[in-house]
Amino acid sequence: MMNVIEALQARHSTRAYKPDPVDRETIRKILEAANHAPSWANTQPWEVFVASGEPLERLRQRNLENFRNGVPPEPDQPTPQHWPEAHQKRTGAMAAAHQAILGIKREDKDARKIMTENNLRFFGAPVVIFLCMDRTLDPWSLYDLGSFSQSIMLAAQHYGLNTIPAIMMSVYPKLIREELNIPDNLKVVFSIALGYGDPESIQNKLITTRRPLDEFVRMAGI
Ligand SMILES: Cc1cc2nc3c(=O)[nH]c(=O)nc-3n(C[C@H](O)[C@H](O)[C@H](O)COP(=O)(O)O)c2cc1C
Repeated sequence: MMNVIEALQARHSTRAYKPDPVDRETIRKILEAANHAPSWANTQPWEVFVASGEPLERLRQRNLENFRNGVPPEPDQPTPQHWPEAHQKRTGAMAAAHQAILGIKREDKDARKIMTENNLRFFGAPVVIFLCMDRTLDPWSLYDLGSFSQSIMLAAQHYGLNTIPAIMMSVYPKLIREELNIPDNLKVVFSIALGYGDPESIQNKLITTRRPLDEFVRMAGI
């Protein structure tokens, strides 16, 4: 059995999955565990839509069709357009390391298209968990969705499952709304793919780095 520290260290974004299904009871156990996450005054803003099987296959196809037809992405939760320089640098280093592993050159538009399509086809995962919240909620509720998400991802590790949180999976929320009957008062914030990772895939060779503690931790009185 994996302890929390081991789960934290073992979790990596998994971008290729085996086709093996995940049973409904395991998904429920993961969500049951994640439901213990803290939230602002216990508001528990998460609304969860789990897709697998046929609805998920239809979403994969429809996402790809949209992309290939040049439909512009329209995420319910707008994505940042600018990052401060230090953050931009870290993103750039991660993207460069990922592209190097995949053997992709920055200017290779076709290869980058394939990367985007891998996101839109949910990395081949058998399950995607779409996380939604009331449209009128303040950004503080995003914090709660974040802690709920990390809890899902750690609980998944416990059951030998892998995950990736990916905003690219929900850039066409209209389709998700249609397939999963998501009411209009909820926005689709982001999504987590879940399944058994394919350890052989080159997609799963990226191990991201972290800043050393001394770069971002300041302590006083201890
Ligand atoms: C809110 C959020 C959105 C993300 N969106 C994407 C995405 O659209 N596509 C993708 O490949 N990875 C996405 N990621 C994964 C990050 O790139 C990844 O967590 C980061 O590079 C650290 O790597 P690790 O998860 O393997 O530790 C996202 C992560 C978060 C937290």
